[in-house]
Amino acid sequence: MYVIPKPFKEERGQGFFVFDSSVKISAELPIISSMLNAFCKADVPKGDKTVEFVRGETEHDYELAVTEKSVTATAATDEGLFHAAVTLIQLIICADGADARIPVCKISDKPRFAYRGLMIDVCRHFFGVETVKKMIDVMSVFKFNYLHMHLSDDQGFRLQIDAMPKLHGHASKRAQTCGDRKPHGGYYTKAQIAELVKYAAERFVRIIPEIDLPGHTRAIVSAYPELSCSGKQTDVATWFGIHSKVLCVGKDTTYDALEKIIGETADMFPCAYFHLGGDEVPKLEWEKCPDCGKVMEENGLDDYEKLQGYFTNRVIKMLSERGKTPILWNEALFSDMLDKNAVVQYWEGGKATAARVAQSVRDENRKVVVSCVRPYYLDYPYGFSSLKSAYMFEPCLESFGEQGAKGVLGVECPIWTEHVATEEKLFTQVFPRAIAVAESGWSQGKKDYADFEDRLLKVVKLLRSAGISYKPVGKCNPNPITGAMQMIAFGIKAASKLDRDSARSARSAQQHKKKK
Ligand code: ACM
Ligand code: ZN
Repeated sequence: MYVIPKPFKEERGQGFFVFDSSVKISAELPIISSMLNAFCKADVPKGDKTVEFVRGETEHDYELAVTEKSVTATAATDEGLFHAAVTLIQLIICADGADARIPVCKISDKPRFAYRGLMIDVCRHFFGVETVKKMIDVMSVFKFNYLHMHLSDDQGFRLQIDAMPKLHGHASKRAQTCGDRKPHGGYYTKAQIAELVKYAAERFVRIIPEIDLPGHTRAIVSAYPELSCSGKQTDVATWFGIHSKVLCVGKDTTYDALEKIIGETADMFPCAYFHLGGDEVPKLEWEKCPDCGKVMEENGLDDYEKLQGYFTNRVIKMLSERGKTPILWNEALFSDMLDKNAVVQYWEGGKATAARVAQSVRDENRKVVVSCVRPYYLDYPYGFSSLKSAYMFEPCLESFGEQGAKGVLGVECPIWTEHVATEEKLFTQVFPRAIAVAESGWSQGKKDYADFEDRLLKVVKLLRSAGISYKPVGKCNPNPITGAMQMIAFGIKAASKLDRDSARSARSAQQHKKKK
């Protein structure tokens, strides 16, 4: 059957259920009736045939029973009923002929992983509420349940923070992007965040905010230079790469400011998870800073990774007091003192990181979200990560051993936006690769790319009918020569957009790999 992600169990029967105007839809959840009505065009139901969504016990997330006369969805939760509805919508949209004829069938479905995420970077290029809502729409149809929003980086801070108004007033704008001489900016007001959180929740998507700390903070220290080691004025970054202007982790003023930022952000996002970043932190300023030096001495910290660990655990405490579970990029592990409840997001491909993450899963009961650059970073060309490679990738890595089954919380595909300035580019980078990741997050059993592509060719009609751009499936697996050319073009473009400071900062940020 044409459903993505592939259901846990499906049985095809004889005959069809025809969605015509004699169908009566009964669903208590308004989102289900409105979505189904939009797809079935059964505005004036006569009630001859029924489509019912009922709450009831089941060992699965949902069950869907289709006969010639009725469709019955059963689930113990509203979320399960919503999942049944999006499965049904896919069956309808993939039906052949003028009438929506869906096969008589029985589906029993449940997810492989609890966490199925997609990350959007709204700092390098800002995307407004309407674009984020479209992303949520598509995510929800493929049973993603977490939208991770990367809200603070060197090139912009994207949230209204009342106690520190220069964050949205000043840090949300940059003078230009890589020499284009055009100012770029934007931030979400509290009302807009409330609107997005509600919109996502109605579709059973939770929004995880990320305030990336203590690196990637040039926008923050541009608004409040007293939060840096030197206290010197700087600008919101106008070039990409890794920047040396990070938070001072030795001054109390930094922690006072973070109480405010974390406090207001946590209040805006009810999600149980809160992402604290922690990636790519150059230690160049800390090495010269008496305040950072003093904290190291007072706390017996003998290297800068430990100093980052001290900082991270102090901020984690602010989250714990607010009932939140932290998520951090994998660099946070290298202090060897990361709070045991922190979830690690595994992204970076090097050997030292792979070994450290695997060790944490095996020996420290660490929960991990798998986001390996290759093939899950959707900003890279299809020649680097083809649709097939994204689909075939197995997130429970062999190196995790038996613990992997317990340690892997789920999967997430990030879209970084240094080279993504328009909605069309955003969606063609993300789709359909994210749909392959959705299947890895939800479905179990042996992978069959040909079968996936067959289903996808039908299911992409959903994107087309919603006016969402996507890369045509035929172009998603370029041959090696085309792929190499795409990579060369991408590499040249990326290199031409790096800040002058970036190479030195990157070397400093990668010291942890040498330590191991
Ligand atoms: C990252 O890609 N810097 C997490
Ligand atoms: Zn300092």
